Amino acid sequence: MRIDIISAVPELLESPFRHSIMKRAAEKNLLNVVIHDLRKFGIGKHNKIDDYQYGGGAGMVMCIEPILKCLDNIKEEEDFDEIIFVTPDGVLFDQQMANSLSLRNRLVIICGHYKGIDERLREHIVTMEISIGSFVLSGGELAAAVIVDSIGRLLPGVLNDETSALFDSFQDGLLAPPVFTRPAEYNGWKVPEILLSGDDGKIEQWRLEQSLERTKLRRPDLLNED
Ligand code: ADE
Repeated sequence: MRIDIISAVPELLESPFRHSIMKRAAEKNLLNVVIHDLRKFGIGKHNKIDDYQYGGGAGMVMCIEPILKCLDNIKEEEDFDEIIFVTPDGVLFDQQMANSLSLRNRLVIICGHYKGIDERLREHIVTMEISIGSFVLSGGELAAAVIVDSIGRLLPGVLNDETSALFDSFQDGLLAPPVFTRPAEYNGWKVPEILLSGDDGKIEQWRLEQSLERTKLRRPDLLNED
């Protein structure tokens, strides 16, 4: 899978894909994340990428032309499956969306800044608008990193069996159960007896109960979804 990210501040995206699981995904050639510096496609000798908004008002708006030029430049021979714009007024991102995006071959993510991008790009070019939560970030880069990370870990071969994404919170509509490691007792704090029992059936049952309990307590909204 290839994901292109268009950004006015590409430095913000230097680190997230260079470590841990995302690094492994790149090394195994399962995920190729390509970052594009929008300023390289800026207008005029100052490489302008934004301008004042029509009708007045504070805040700059990102121009159409640099973004279109950048898209043209990266399109090459293969078209995009989705052109995503990350924005607080987009559709709320969740595990289901991550699952379905992980089945695509080629995505491009446009990161907004300032007041956002010219609405005509949203009307005519963008195919999906995603928000990562009901709060406003200074730019779309961190949202893009969150989305790419959650997609990347779902690609077959990226995770090994132990860390399989199948057992993640949300994957079956429930939060993950609590986990413990050695020692079995620390400071008088004990690991639940059942996890030391060696009885796989009972342990599985306990984990399911814990998942349900945790979900009821912390995210009852998940239990009401169909
Ligand atoms: N850009 C700024 N805030 C955002 C958010 N909450 N989700 C996605 N993109 C954003």
